[in-house]
Amino acid sequence: MNNLTRPGTSLLILEDADALAREAAHRFALGAGQAVEHGHPFRVALSGGTTPLETFHALASAPYLRSVPWGSVEFFWADERFVPFDHTDSNFGAARNALLDRLGAPPAGVFPVPCNAASVEDAAREYEETLRQAFELGSEEIPRFDLILLGLGEDGHTASLFPGFLPSGDGTHAVAGLRPAHASSFRVSLTPATLNAAREIVFLVSGARKASVLEKALRIEAPDPSFPASLVRPVRGKVHWLVDRAAAARVTESAEAPPEG
Ligand code: 6PG
Repeated sequence: MNNLTRPGTSLLILEDADALAREAAHRFALGAGQAVEHGHPFRVALSGGTTPLETFHALASAPYLRSVPWGSVEFFWADERFVPFDHTDSNFGAARNALLDRLGAPPAGVFPVPCNAASVEDAAREYEETLRQAFELGSEEIPRFDLILLGLGEDGHTASLFPGFLPSGDGTHAVAGLRPAHASSFRVSLTPATLNAAREIVFLVSGARKASVLEKALRIEAPDPSFPASLVRPVRGKVHWLVDRAAAARVTESAEAPPEG
């Protein structure tokens, strides 16, 4: 069973990055509407990097700017660079500029990672407490996000889970402070346990340079720490791969998921 034939997993190949962003915004809006129908806030965790930016711009534009019930949306981050919010590398700063500052109505909540903490490890512990308070959880519980937007790095990383620099410990932590040697900054990341508790994961993968890593991500049979994106296997959640045609250049027909039942 490869990653795509896992129950609850789908692949949608969009014509280009713009179509991908519009599809991602559409799924965000659907999720927000469903959460409101069920009477709870829509708790979403955003990733950084460049791919999500077009989705943020789509959400800050018609029709979503007016159709999404922003007053019921709580924003969190799947990962963050341990830098000030006004630093060019800040994922919160990027989302604030591309989306949050453009919303007509204030969202229900915005919960950035506390990058002013004394250390990246302290930031992770403080963020974990922020999540547990926002989700009204006990000290050992893992938050269940409604939606987590993830990217895919060329080395198979996702969020800030990098090969060789995965969170240690027994998997009870929801958030980890990490010091990946090659990254430009220390990182705070949701752990695989939190990613895998999500109701819905949407991977956004765009561009020809992702063709090789996407093909591997979809083909991989079992969780492999050397390819962290393969660790994302929600226990009771769906995984949607939204990719553009350039990134899907090496996706064989056989890898395509059967139509959703
Ligand atoms: C980050 C992201 C990271 C990103 C991938 C893909 O903070 O950098 O969370 O995991 O999603 O590196 O980045 P691009 O979208 O820029 O290719």
